[in-house]
Amino acid sequence: MQADLRSDTFTKPGKEMRQVMANAEVGDDVFGEDPTVNKLQDIVAEMTGKEAGLFVASGTMGNQVAVNTLTQPGQEVILDANAHIFFYEAGAPALLSGVQLRPVKSSNGILTAEEIEPAIRADNIHFPPTSLICLENTLNRAGGRIFPLEEIKKIRLLADKHGIKMHLDGARLWNASVAAGIPLHEYGKYFETMSLCFSKGLGAPVGSIVVGDSKTIDRARRYRKIYGGGMRQAGIIAAGALYAVENNFKRLTEDHKRAKILAETINSLNGFEVNLDSVQTNIVIVTVTRKDLTAENVADMLAEKEVLVLALGERMLRLVTHLDVSEEEVLYAADVLKELFG
Ligand SMILES: Cc1ncc(COP(=O)(O)O)c(C=O)c1O
Repeated sequence: MQADLRSDTFTKPGKEMRQVMANAEVGDDVFGEDPTVNKLQDIVAEMTGKEAGLFVASGTMGNQVAVNTLTQPGQEVILDANAHIFFYEAGAPALLSGVQLRPVKSSNGILTAEEIEPAIRADNIHFPPTSLICLENTLNRAGGRIFPLEEIKKIRLLADKHGIKMHLDGARLWNASVAAGIPLHEYGKYFETMSLCFSKGLGAPVGSIVVGDSKTIDRARRYRKIYGGGMRQAGIIAAGALYAVENNFKRLTEDHKRAKILAETINSLNGFEVNLDSVQTNIVIVTVTRKDLTAENVADMLAEKEVLVLALGERMLRLVTHLDVSEEEVLYAADVLKELFG
């Protein structure tokens, strides 16, 4: 048996999803004439309480199109020092939007309005104007934690006070929504734009979406074109995303239960620590405290038993549950962990 817990990006389209994709109605999406893309955009816009949506190739493209749409070159963007946009998007905001990022360290893994406020620039010719705050939900590097809605509201008030816009990197907003019992459209109220991925927990092979008001999405469409992301008969892949939204959204709770099983098993082993309070969705971050082993050693030992995990730092391991990891496979992984390290 194998349990591939490296990432929810490893999900593969099943037979039914592939069939729906093969049969999708298509048109030229650069002309706005792909009926499947249009349907997907309309459905997700409605779910998120926004006027319009724009289908994009990836989560990175969604974030970068949004950053460019909401800023001018020379401005500054505040975000968490652990944010995907800062950590893993190859410096794209500087390269593509000409903005400077202002990463802020959060004291407990989730940025607060209080922590953001001092980073907002005063009106002074020496400073780049702060024009955008980016948040992330769920927080990837903080173990899939859910960004509390109450804090988002406080940050929105702060942003409004200073005339600052807000973007949400909601690559896994689906997970946050089912786990917190908060509809997507509630989150949508507090951001000019949100990006959501279809290719992670939902299990579609390709694609993300940016949602916002119609004018913002019209501008975003131009940046998507500039980045080479104007796809033609994209309905083939949008159909997979549509299938994923319709069939795989609510079942994310199963992945969350399985992540808890793994977290509790690992936390009971000597030399391994998991902050159980932070295991709120499908990601488990493990600290290897055993001095004789690094995260890499542990990942290698598990791989020999066909349990695949990612070492994200010298002492940091990440395990992710998803559509393609069954209950049986999770129990197998838990048994292997106990056998090797119990
Ligand atoms: C929080 C977050 N945002 C954005 C992305 C980027 O998505 P993509 O890999 O589709 O570019 C990821 C990818 O893992 C992510 O975890």
